[in-house]
Amino acid sequence: SSAGKEYDTVVIGGGPGGYVAAIKAAQLGQKTACIEMRETLGGTCLNVGCIPSKALLHNSHMFHEAKHGFAKRGIDVGEVKLNLPQLLADKDKAVSGLTRGIEMLFKKNKVDWIKGAGTLKSANQIEVALNAGGVEAVSAKNIIIATGSEPAPFPGFEVDEKQIITSTGALALDKVPEKMIVIGGGVIGLELGSVWSRLGADVTVVEYMPSIGAGLDAEVAKAFQRSLAKQGIKFKTSTKVTGSEKRDGKVVVSVEAAKGGKQETLEADVVLVSVGRRPYTAGLGLENVGIAVDAKGRIEMADGQFRTAVPNIRVIGDATVGPMLAHKAEEEGIAAVEHITNGYGHVNYDVIPGVIYTHPEVACVGKTEQQLKDAGVKYNVGSFPFAANSRAKTIDDAEGFVKILTDAETDRILGAHIIGPNAGEMIAEACLVMEYGGSAEDVARTCHAHPTMSEAFKEASMAAYSKPIHF
Ligand code: FAD
Ligand code: NAI
Repeated sequence: SSAGKEYDTVVIGGGPGGYVAAIKAAQLGQKTACIEMRETLGGTCLNVGCIPSKALLHNSHMFHEAKHGFAKRGIDVGEVKLNLPQLLADKDKAVSGLTRGIEMLFKKNKVDWIKGAGTLKSANQIEVALNAGGVEAVSAKNIIIATGSEPAPFPGFEVDEKQIITSTGALALDKVPEKMIVIGGGVIGLELGSVWSRLGADVTVVEYMPSIGAGLDAEVAKAFQRSLAKQGIKFKTSTKVTGSEKRDGKVVVSVEAAKGGKQETLEADVVLVSVGRRPYTAGLGLENVGIAVDAKGRIEMADGQFRTAVPNIRVIGDATVGPMLAHKAEEEGIAAVEHITNGYGHVNYDVIPGVIYTHPEVACVGKTEQQLKDAGVKYNVGSFPFAANSRAKTIDDAEGFVKILTDAETDRILGAHIIGPNAGEMIAEACLVMEYGGSAEDVARTCHAHPTMSEAFKEASMAAYSKPIHF
C-alpha cells in the first residue's frame, strides 16, 4: 500500500541510543525497524567517537610507555618507532568488528535495518531516501528519534578535516603534526590532544574557562591539568580564540585573555576544534509534524516519558537534553521502549558516570563539591591518594586520588571523583552503591581484594566517616 511497510516501532538513527532501543523493542515483541543512513551501524560512538578514540588512546599510550616508560621498568627495547598506518588500521579493525556485531544483533533479534535517511511526514509516516537510491514509505505506531549530534562549528574556522579538523579528522590524521592547537579543553580536546601529544605532536590547548575538563570537580581538574602538563601538553586557560588565518601551509590562530587584553598569535600545522557538539536534526522533517527544538537545537521533550509534542514520537540520546554520552543514550533507549510496551521505564539522571580516557583516567559520578556547596548540603569528604595504594605503587602508576562526597547526616555517597589508573572501571562501584542508596560505611565494610586499586575506593570511604588505615 502507499503507507508502505508497517511497524509497531521505528527508530530513526542507529547509534547507541537507537540501536539499543531497536533491539529492546524487538525483544519485547514489537515489529521493529531502525533507519540509519550510514553504511555501518553504531552511530557516532562506534564509527567516529567512543570506539576509535579509545583504540587510539590505548595504542598511543602503549607507544608512549614503550618509548619513555619501559626503561625504568627494566625493559630495554631497540628504537621504538611509530607505524602510524598500522596504528590507524588497528583502530579501524576495532570499529568494523563492533559495527558488524550490531548488524548481527539486528539479525538475531529480527530488527529490520532500513539503510537511508528518514524524514518525518506525519505522526505515523516516515519517508526514507534509500542509500541505494529511491524512496521507501514506512509507517509506524511509535517512532523514536535517535539522530544524535554533530560537532558544533566555530566561527572563523572552516573545517576541512586535514588542517582544521573536528574529532572525526583527529581520528584519521595520516601524519603526526609538528604543532597542534586544540580549541576547547573539554573531553574531546583532552583525549585526542593526548593521543597526538603521545605520538609526538607539540600540543597546545586553548580553553576559554579558567579550568579544563568541562565541569569536573575543581580539585580533580587541577590535578588533571598538572598531570597532562607534565606529559608535555601546554595549556592556555582563561583564553579566547579570536580568529585564524592560513599562512605558508600553517594556521595562525589569534588568541587573547578571556577578559580582554593582550593579543597573541599561535602557529600550528593542525587545529582541532572541540568546543562541544550540537544535536543533529537536519532533514528530519520536525517542521512537518510540529516538533520544536530549543535554543541549543535540542528536541524538546513534553513529559518524563521521552515524548515530544507528538505523543507517539519520542526522542532520546544526544538529540535531546542531558549529557551527550553513549551510556546515557542507551539507558534512555531502553526506558523509552519500556514506556511504549509496559507503560513504565526509568533513568536515574543522578547516577550517570563520566569518564575521560586519558592517562591517568578521570572518572566521576554524582555531585561535585561545588554543586553541594551551592545547594547548601552538609557533606563530608573522603580522599585517598593512589600513592598510598599498594597495587598502584607495585605497578609504578600511582598518580591521582579517589575523592568521595557523602551526606554529613546519613553518610550516603553523593558523588565520587577519581583521577588515576583504572578510574573508568572503578567508578562502576560508586554507581552501584549510589543506585542502592548505600553509605561510605557500607563500602568500607565490604571486603575488597588485595592488592587492587579498588582498595583506594574503600579507603576513601573509610576516610569519609572515620579514618583510612593506610594514609
Ligand atoms: P549518535 O551516536 O550520534 O547516532 C545517531 C545516528 O543517527 C547516526 O549514525 C546518524 O547517521 C543517524 N541519523 C541521523 N539522522 C538520521 C536520519 N534522518 N535518518 C537516518 N539516520 C540518521 N560517549 C561516551 O559515553 N563515552 C565515550 O568514550 C565517548 N567518546 C566520544 C568520542 C568522540 C570523538 C565523540 C565525537 C563522541 C564521544 N562520545 C562518547 C559521545 C557519544 O558518541 C554520543 O553520546 C553517542 O554516540 C550518542 O548516541 P546517539 O544514539 O544519541 O547518537
Ligand atoms: P565539551 O563540552 O566536553 O568541552 C568543550 C570545551 O570547550 C569546554 O571546556 C568549553 O569551556 C570550551 N570552549 C567552548 N567554547 C570555547 C571557545 N570559544 N574557546 C575556547 N574554549 C571553548 O565538548 P567536546 O570536548 O567537544 O565534546 C563533545 C561531547 O562529546 C561532550 O559533551 C561529551 O559528552 C562527548 N564526549 C564524551 C567522551 C567521553 O565520555 N569519554 C569523549 C569525547 C566526547
